[in-house]
Amino acid sequence: MLPADLPRVSIAHLPTPIDELPRLSRELGGPRLFAKRDDCTGLAMGGNKTRKLEFLLGDALERGADTLITEGGVQSNHCRQTAAAANHAGLGCVLVLSEGFANELTGNLFLDHLLGARVVTTTGARADVMNEIAADLRREGKRPYVIPTGGSNGVGAMGYAQCMVELAEQSEAMGEHFDVIVTASGSGGTQGGLVLGKKLIESPARIVGISDGETRAELAEMVLRVARDGAALLGADLAFRDEELEIYDQYYGPGYGVPTSQMVAAVRQVARCEGLLLDPVYNGKAMSGLIDLVARGQIAADQNVLFLHTGGTPALFAYRESFTP
Ligand SMILES: Cc1ncc(COP(=O)(O)O)c(C=O)c1O
Repeated sequence: MLPADLPRVSIAHLPTPIDELPRLSRELGGPRLFAKRDDCTGLAMGGNKTRKLEFLLGDALERGADTLITEGGVQSNHCRQTAAAANHAGLGCVLVLSEGFANELTGNLFLDHLLGARVVTTTGARADVMNEIAADLRREGKRPYVIPTGGSNGVGAMGYAQCMVELAEQSEAMGEHFDVIVTASGSGGTQGGLVLGKKLIESPARIVGISDGETRAELAEMVLRVARDGAALLGADLAFRDEELEIYDQYYGPGYGVPTSQMVAAVRQVARCEGLLLDPVYNGKAMSGLIDLVARGQIAADQNVLFLHTGGTPALFAYRESFTP
């Protein structure tokens, strides 16, 4: 469905598996639930960024880049996967991280160092620091490739547009259909890519994004920008409207990365009844949203729901105190 000549590097283990979650469905008294295991994309503990990085790395190599630069929060999964992707291709990597909750040298931050990335921390605007570093590298004769927050731009969108195609093929092979796809949403790349893919393949599925810390308006703007940039890159004449987006912004609590009691309960429930580990920043909060939407009937009991597990489990270790009774 996507043009075969788009620059792409095969770094993800695809297709990712789909597991049914029958005990969780029973506990919620609700819909049939499935998890699409994008925590199993394979690159240095996996996660959703690997799909985007297949296309971003492809673009970087085509442009002759020798260094990847990107930015994120201190426990950024995107940064960890970017460092691993750079190593895979023999490129250098600079990560600009802002300190926040869970600054300890564990979880993703530990892995960033283990992977050998140059880590720069800042309390200022990360994008500015990133652009200054890129300018310095250019002056030294290097060829940096700057990846925006979360790899969320038109190129990165290809990853989740392609995921919709993969899902359609898996649904057909399984003889199942999915009425609702629920995903954690932060910088718009995952949801924007899914929304783009939905239009490309004319899928009737609802795409539900649970915000990790942005208001609905902020997140909708990012999702629309990514979907539109992705469509433009493909030369596809598609329109995307705010009213078509399904985004919930009431589940992140006090802010991005700050634990909520509902997140802790959801992570514990899924671990104990399915043996499935969710992360505290994205999927734990997304699952707390899914549980609430089922309880309130906004996801009906007769629907098939696919929870996109976007990874992030290394951050659990940085949050262990939130889970100790
Ligand atoms: C585990 C995980 N889930 C979800 C997201 C949100 O994805 P996106 O930034 O594409 O909206 C991220 C982003 O960092 C993530 O690391």
